[in-house]
Amino acid sequence: MKTTAAAPADYSRTARIFHWVTAVAFLVQFPIGFTMTQLTPGSTSELLFSVHGSVGFFVLWLALLRLAYRLRTKINRRNSILATWHSRATLIAHWTIYSLLILVPLTGWAGSVAGDILELFGIVRLPAILPPDHTWSIWLLWSHGLLAFSLMAIVAVHIGFGLQGYLEGSAEEPESPTPSGVPASS
Ligand code: HEM
Ligand code: HEM
Repeated sequence: MKTTAAAPADYSRTARIFHWVTAVAFLVQFPIGFTMTQLTPGSTSELLFSVHGSVGFFVLWLALLRLAYRLRTKINRRNSILATWHSRATLIAHWTIYSLLILVPLTGWAGSVAGDILELFGIVRLPAILPPDHTWSIWLLWSHGLLAFSLMAIVAVHIGFGLQGYLEGSAEEPESPTPSGVPASS
């Protein structure tokens, strides 16, 4: 069975929806984070900080839900393709992306001890994860930026491979995730 970059044949509809909603949210979130830190403080940067915190919080919960769904997923190692180094590397890259999709928003949230960034779309105020501490905040936000850029680098390679598979029209089929006991097409 062939797979395509946009919709690997063995991925359930739920898995595909999770993939594309997360992908779009991340690809919007990254430039917002980068742009807001380059602007001089003002109403635009305040708005971007607020949107950034809100979208980032959404990404965090989406990633946790997606991970929970993924952990329920049974992998059929058909044709032992996963024995190849390339497929192992793909698997490692996927789990690294999952981990960073959780760590990046968590460090952003933990490092934001005050301000509009903790207001979800200006409606609900998030509790600060840590008590206000300037040193911790600086360190956490530095880690946040570093992890976000690392995630972007991995995702860029991931997209490159995804598009390559799509253009070739026959992406590999290293794994066949099927939610335990549920047919893949559900
Ligand atoms: C144009 C953009 C993208 C394309 C074409 C694409 C393509 C793909 C393809 C073909 C797969 C299945 C790979 C396989 O099973 O061998 C996949 C899986 C995955 N993608 Fe993407 N992707 C894109 C963007 C993203 C982004 C932005 C993220 C995260 C920020 C992401 C995260 C993931 C993850 C975590 C998996 C593993 C899914 C799993 O097995 O649970 N992708 N992607
Ligand atoms: C997947 C989710 C997220 C991504 C991809 C992301 C990405 C980024 C990026 C690229 C930057 C710029 C870093 C730099 O230029 O050094 C940034 C900065 C920042 N982010 Fe996020 N972020 C996410 C979630 C969050 C969340 C949930 C919060 C808080 C609730 C947050 C708070 C911040 C803050 C306060 C900064 C400014 C850091 C500074 O002033 O150095 N981020 N983010």
